[in-house]
Amino acid sequence: ADASQCPFLSEVAGGGTQNEDWWPNRLKLELLNQHSEKSNPLGKDFSYAEAFKKLDYAALKKDLLDVMTDSQDWWPADFGSYAGLFIRMAWHSAGTYRVQDGRGGGGRGQQRFAPLNSWPDNVSLDKARRLLWPIKQKYGQKISWADLMILAGNVALESTGFRTFGFAGGREDVWEPDQDVYWGNETEWLATSDTPNSRYQHNKEKREIENPLAAVQMGLIYVNPEGPDGNPDPVAAAHDIRETFERMAMNDEETVALIAGGHTIGKTHGNGDGEKVMMDADPEAADFALQGFGWENKNGSGKGSDAFTSGLEVIWTSTPVQWSNDFFKFLFEFEWELTKSPAGAHQWVASNAEAIIPDPFGGPNRKPTMLTTDLSLRFDPAYEKISRKFYNDPQAFADAYARAWFKLTHRDMGPVSRYLGPEVPKEELIWQDPIPAVDYTLVDASDIKALKAKVLDSGLSVSDLVYTAWSSAATFRGGDKRGGANGARINLEPMKSWEVNKGTDKTIAVLEGIKDEFNSNAGGGKKISLADMIVLAGSAAVEKAASDAGVPTEVPFTPGRNDATQEQTEIDSVDYLNTPYDGFRNYVVEGIKVPAEHLLVDKAQLLTLTTPEMTALVGGLRVLGANFDGSRHGVLTDKIGVLSNDFFVNLLDMSTEWKAANEDKSLYEGVDRKTGDFKWSGTRVDLVFGSNSILRALAEVYAEAGSEAKFVKDFVAAWTKVMNLDRFDLA
Ligand code: HEM
Repeated sequence: ADASQCPFLSEVAGGGTQNEDWWPNRLKLELLNQHSEKSNPLGKDFSYAEAFKKLDYAALKKDLLDVMTDSQDWWPADFGSYAGLFIRMAWHSAGTYRVQDGRGGGGRGQQRFAPLNSWPDNVSLDKARRLLWPIKQKYGQKISWADLMILAGNVALESTGFRTFGFAGGREDVWEPDQDVYWGNETEWLATSDTPNSRYQHNKEKREIENPLAAVQMGLIYVNPEGPDGNPDPVAAAHDIRETFERMAMNDEETVALIAGGHTIGKTHGNGDGEKVMMDADPEAADFALQGFGWENKNGSGKGSDAFTSGLEVIWTSTPVQWSNDFFKFLFEFEWELTKSPAGAHQWVASNAEAIIPDPFGGPNRKPTMLTTDLSLRFDPAYEKISRKFYNDPQAFADAYARAWFKLTHRDMGPVSRYLGPEVPKEELIWQDPIPAVDYTLVDASDIKALKAKVLDSGLSVSDLVYTAWSSAATFRGGDKRGGANGARINLEPMKSWEVNKGTDKTIAVLEGIKDEFNSNAGGGKKISLADMIVLAGSAAVEKAASDAGVPTEVPFTPGRNDATQEQTEIDSVDYLNTPYDGFRNYVVEGIKVPAEHLLVDKAQLLTLTTPEMTALVGGLRVLGANFDGSRHGVLTDKIGVLSNDFFVNLLDMSTEWKAANEDKSLYEGVDRKTGDFKWSGTRVDLVFGSNSILRALAEVYAEAGSEAKFVKDFVAAWTKVMNLDRFDLA
């Protein structure tokens, strides 16, 4: 059944030894061209937001509630309800998110695809998704898989009598696995911290995970339930829990609420001799006959009371399909003794308890049981305080869990302007990076014209204006849709103090003056925000630069951004948007080991740019003089501030010879091939456009005779895209 063993496979398209085999360190430009229209069956005119509006939301929720208790013979429900299974599916869908790069998360329906569909931590969730298929089929494109998985978790919680904080739709499915997410270097599932390529290798003493990862082992959502590397030590496990949950933006209180709230419902599955249970191939590798299911289990019936998922056999509370405060009650009232599941995994049993826990399929009652990581909530001193508070105040617990669950499942959705549906909470939450609604009249075409003239007359250079606008917009990241020019957070902490934004304060001060003057004279409730002013000024500069290049071009500008306040800005959380590299501004923090050209592609991917867009932007930003700290690297022109194609022309000019200018080859010098006279300097990010064969092909397009106008047009289109990346309010 294993197709990878097939000797004939190399003879078909895509087979054989490929570029990635010959040159494993090649620049992965395909990251910028993933999720193309060609792989999207809905076409480019499909609008999920429009489709969602036509959804009968109440009927959908009713159907989900019915599915919850409609036990199927092919996967019987524990205790007659799939609530636990669906909550776990939603949590594992959202739980891959990490704050560091904003990638992962439940926003794109990735649990349908490898590797996530086959992660060892996602065993049996293939069944959970398939239980939802009749509903997905019925509602079609009015509900995405990404939304459906999260909503099923919400409805599951409600089915237990829990009151959730709300739900927002708006997660758009993608149609192939994301390639940009770094899941770690290990080559085997669940490799421990001892393996040579483990995520702990760089700091084993402190047991610190390599960034941006947010799980302890390959194939886990967060931590090992048995304790660090399987060591059943609840205090040591607390270290791992704290580190991983912090990396998905959860503090101690949210973490305790989430784990306890999650494990108030459902059970774990490990009822079978671990030696004998033969879990067959995961879904991605399983036989065709299984039609997308995996982990076929030959233990007894392989389902129901024989179901095998984690190998642990724990039931936390005596009402596993009903909300209660029993998790904390049992955690504190009982003494916990280390034992093993029937499959041989470390778990804990309440030694001084009666058999008060029901069996999922009517068998004899059991004693309460817990995972090592559950006991962390009692034996870690900081967690214990919080757990005791929740034990004594069930309402505080329910409230904290409702909020933390909402944050968990909505953290990667970006601003509330993306939220859809009747259950969007009214309350503004700081992690949403809130921006006040526009409550004034926006500027019109003649105001925009006058403001542009003021900007160009202010003494600010094209370089300054472009650099500031770029800096304000380029914090955006497509993974969790945070950042961007809206809110003008570049004028607030922490952004205003970032090294890469050095000097933008001077430009912003002048722009604020123009804005204030306009706002005090405009009358009629008309205003412009600083956020709009910064983008408008950058666009005015690009227009001037295009015109000076002999290609007068209008740079589209749509007002409607507003300014956030410092109080609306969570400093630690916004600080994650600070990438220590931005090749577009020729910026990289010293000491980073990854070659700068790879960091450029990473940044371009965060900005959701294609390879041609990245190429046009780098070439344009260089001749506009928009480098960090005014450096001249890659500024391959004598006419700085003019939107010419000089960068490409001069880079590809054979009369220049390039030589490494330092040992680590982060800098190069271009000299006249004949005289040896110095002509230019350039970084790896600049020279890669002549060196890499794909980028060179694109650079040639812009260096060719007669391409000046095309270059301006392409630059302006890519520039406008970046300025509007966070304008979800525009259709
Ligand atoms: C089940 C581990 C946090 C919700 C499980 C299972 C394990 C596990 C091993 C058993 C899977 C199976 O055999 O069926 C952990 C660990 C956590 C954690 C190590 C973090 C330290 C959470 C969180 C939630 C959650 C944050 C939700 C907010 C659930 C639910 C089940 C479950 C509802 C029951 C699934 C069912 O009934 O089929 N967890 N979990 N867990 N987990 Fe967690």
